[in-house]
Amino acid sequence: MSTLLRLNGITKAFAGVHALKGVPFDLEPGEVHALVGENGAGKSTLIKVITGAHAPDQGTLEVQGTLVEHNDPVRARALGIAAIYQQPALFPELTVAENIALGLETGGAWRRIRWGERCTRAQRLLARIGAAIDAEAPVRGITMPEQQLVEIARALGANARILIMDEPTASLSDQEVANLFRVIRELKGQGVGIIYISHRLEELPQVADRVTALRDGSLVATRKMGDVNRAELVRLMVGRELSAVFPKQTVELGETVLEVRDLGCRESGVSGVGFRVRAGEILGLAGLVGAGRTELARVLFGLTPADSGQILLRGRAVTIDRPERAVVLGIAYVPEDRRRHGVVLEMPVAANMTLATLRAVSAHGLIDFRRERAVATDLVRRLAVKTATIDTPVGHLSGGNQQKVALARWLAAEPAVLILDEPTQGVDVGAKAEIHRLMGELAARGMAIVMISSELPEILGMSDRIVVLHGGRVAGTLDRAEATQEAIMELALGHLPAHGAAS
Ligand SMILES: Nc1ncnc2c1ncn2[C@@H]1O[C@H](COP(=O)(O)OP(=O)(O)OP(=O)(O)O)[C@@H](O)[C@H]1O
Ligand SMILES: [Mg+2]
Repeated sequence: MSTLLRLNGITKAFAGVHALKGVPFDLEPGEVHALVGENGAGKSTLIKVITGAHAPDQGTLEVQGTLVEHNDPVRARALGIAAIYQQPALFPELTVAENIALGLETGGAWRRIRWGERCTRAQRLLARIGAAIDAEAPVRGITMPEQQLVEIARALGANARILIMDEPTASLSDQEVANLFRVIRELKGQGVGIIYISHRLEELPQVADRVTALRDGSLVATRKMGDVNRAELVRLMVGRELSAVFPKQTVELGETVLEVRDLGCRESGVSGVGFRVRAGEILGLAGLVGAGRTELARVLFGLTPADSGQILLRGRAVTIDRPERAVVLGIAYVPEDRRRHGVVLEMPVAANMTLATLRAVSAHGLIDFRRERAVATDLVRRLAVKTATIDTPVGHLSGGNQQKVALARWLAAEPAVLILDEPTQGVDVGAKAEIHRLMGELAARGMAIVMISSELPEILGMSDRIVVLHGGRVAGTLDRAEATQEAIMELALGHLPAHGAAS
């Protein structure tokens, strides 16, 4: 079989930003070729050249030995190229089945819509990736991880020969990741080539055959996956050594800041939840996708207010019936889907970062622009946000850098309780270590932090205590000393704790 895809000397610039500089890339049938690099290295831009979303300034693209002269999204799809992006692109008001059908049906306007057939096909495609999602549910009502699974199902349905996955596992739990890898192996067996982008370097040996590293828009190296270890991979990406471990700081714990008792919200399936978080403590919220972690965070932030139980702040019962109330009480929430809810794409980096701190930034009710610029400049440096200037609109930044901006805003706000939903999802290894360091710093200053994460090493590395949810309830609470991957997984799967996991 001939090479599926070959790129030569791809160059692309955006108004002075050289996103790609003469990059070569190729993909064989039945191969998983991983693409790695720091936030802003040019990975997504390269993908968009392949899918025809961007025309390269220079360079050529061949699909199965044939030169593609003027690539565009329609042509790319006809050539069997399908992509799953970092941010699901589905229509929220349509059902899952309708969204899948939109990508697949090409019949004319006269063609009768066969609802039953649509649903069966959607359900079958979802079953192939082991996703228990109702095909008749509106997309608005399903979580972001579920939306990603719908996108993967849609791409599978389009019979793609070249499947591009841009951080497909960023918001999946271990179980869903294992499921996806099973699907990938199946597709490989059928001769499909897969381009795989991920910041979770530890999963690459499980799934990739080759790996290409980009740095600042240039090719660094293409290697056989078996020939590089994690440390070498990091060196290729960032050009220096980086420690992989999370530096957990020991912090003297203070008074209980947040306590919830028997908390429930029928609408979001949360019930009977109880836990407390002390000043300086990082409480990890673990569980599988759908266990109710994000739902619980949304209850605490007043997005879907509780209808039973109690929330106490510093021992005082409070009612949080809307987000504004939570903010006034000193509770901040950084949602998982930050690129959609966390930043204002049209606004500059500096303004985005100080949105939540205008009170601190402004003197006498006027925005102190010098102060705003100083705060933003400091955060850009500390989180290594790759942006031309602090006046650049956030929409021009790479996905991971948008994440950093959204996080920076809340880090700057210094609330009493900080709820972080997947804080390091989609950010590169260097930024991840920096975010962990910042979390430690905030805890040391007495903030109470609730961290949701699907990455068990992150949960184990950062948390003082771990609350494991299952089916919207607390399945168990583990102390740092007794927590292991196995203990968390047992609880997450809803198995009864063997011992000691009192809640
Ligand atoms: N539409 C655009 N306008 C201006 N600059 C852009 C645009 N798209 C990308 N860039 C710039 O091109 C560079 C590469 O971005 P790209 O999105 O390809 O990075 P990436 O490797 O996918 O990063 P991440 O890991 O954060 O997703 C970045 O500096 C980014 O700011
Ligand atoms: Mg990207």
